[in-house]
Amino acid sequence: MAVGIGIVGAGTVGGTLVRRLIDEHDALEAKTGLDLEVRRVAVNDVAKERPFTVPDGVLTGRALDLADDPSVDLVVEVMGGTGVAAEVVMGALRAGKPVVTANKELVAARGPELFDAAAASGVSLLFEAAVGGGIPIIRPLWETLAGEQVRRILGIVNGTTNYILTRMSEDGASYADALAAAQRLGYAEPDPSADVSGADATSKAAILAGLAFGTWIETAAVHREGIEGIARADVAFAAELGYVVKLLAVAERTGGGVSARVHPALVPLHHPLAGIRGATNAVFVEGPSVGELLFAGPGAGAGPTATAVLGDVVDAARELLAGAQVAPRIRLAAASGVADFGAIPTKWYVRLEVADRPGVLAAVAAAFGDHGVSIKSVRQEGRGDRATLLVVTHRAAEADQQAAVAAIGNLDVVAEVGAALRVESDEP
Ligand code: NDP
Ligand code: HSE
Repeated sequence: MAVGIGIVGAGTVGGTLVRRLIDEHDALEAKTGLDLEVRRVAVNDVAKERPFTVPDGVLTGRALDLADDPSVDLVVEVMGGTGVAAEVVMGALRAGKPVVTANKELVAARGPELFDAAAASGVSLLFEAAVGGGIPIIRPLWETLAGEQVRRILGIVNGTTNYILTRMSEDGASYADALAAAQRLGYAEPDPSADVSGADATSKAAILAGLAFGTWIETAAVHREGIEGIARADVAFAAELGYVVKLLAVAERTGGGVSARVHPALVPLHHPLAGIRGATNAVFVEGPSVGELLFAGPGAGAGPTATAVLGDVVDAARELLAGAQVAPRIRLAAASGVADFGAIPTKWYVRLEVADRPGVLAAVAAAFGDHGVSIKSVRQEGRGDRATLLVVTHRAAEADQQAAVAAIGNLDVVAEVGAALRVESDEP
């Protein structure tokens, strides 16, 4: 029996998905036993050229009709956003149709509500492509690692920003040129500010934290800093100090609750995440029993993302044929509390532009000391009227680090705090 698929969105991901469902139909059937038939493809502009050909009547501008369309058995949402996409997903779930989505923004923003709607209808909501593109990470976290008390996740979960930082660090590319290339390669979100501001990674961090800890953290409660302010100078200084700059999504259990944050960070060159280059993503999971796990692979782009979506489509189709929900229900604990970000211990790299004269270093060190922040290393670059101090601190409460840097910025001898970035290493 054929399974009728309705797809909303035929851009970077959806266009490739539809083409592959058509071109690879027989190979998919041979491998899975499923006859997957594209019955509707909803887009914004039906006149636009597409990388596939479908029979008349398949292409439609009416996305919201798919929920009640009797020819559609399961719905795939690859348009993005939290407006029409939310209506599409919610409508399909309420109509009792399994839904596959790549939309991390939607899952992060409305996860609990969507999981409840799926559970009420007894159908699956599958979103393997929402985090890490082609990397299998949703199922491993929720299913395979169900028995692990995950302690911390460090993720490079945005391909666009990792691509930009890699180009800046390895080729000395400018931020603007690297971003334009990421857009050309199909890595960037429809609005690339979602990538560079860290918003995309924030959604993914919230999803990872939700799956790892069973507590859904609202995206607004995820501390977020993007890579817009990263200077080539700091990428180069970081390398001299033995680090590489990455945009990290961090989800962890702390004494004060669970926490998720997204910010650029210096990662030691020996850490497994340091070697994750270009649009590659990686999720580094730490647990008391399993130790350390690294999931890595292509985190963005049409091909890898469509593969993840196809895997979910196959699962959803199996569910329909078996008549039983395939994905285990996502159960969320009552919020066990989101940790106070200011109390989380962090380490910092601080670049200071200072006057090069006696007493400067003492004043800087005293300001750190006054806030209970101990210095790990100081390096001076340049001499003369102006010098650059590169300070790396030991771990201290985030709020104390911030207060120390603010105080240092007010010192007469400090012309500028050029950069203040966190260092993510296991050293104290
Ligand atoms: P694109 O902008 O390339 O495609 C969006 C598609 O949605 C277009 O086909 C567009 O139609 C369609 N669309 C827009 N509005 C409507 C509407 N009202 N009704 C029906 N269709 C509509 O986005 P991507 O393919 O890059 O991303 C899609 C989703 O996948 C997003 O949620 C994104 O976050 C996620 N994702 C993307 C990855 C990537 O590497 N690109 C990786 C992982 C996830 P039209 O073509 O007519 O303009
Ligand atoms: N824009 C996203 C990225 C797509 O660059 O990682 C994958 O979610």
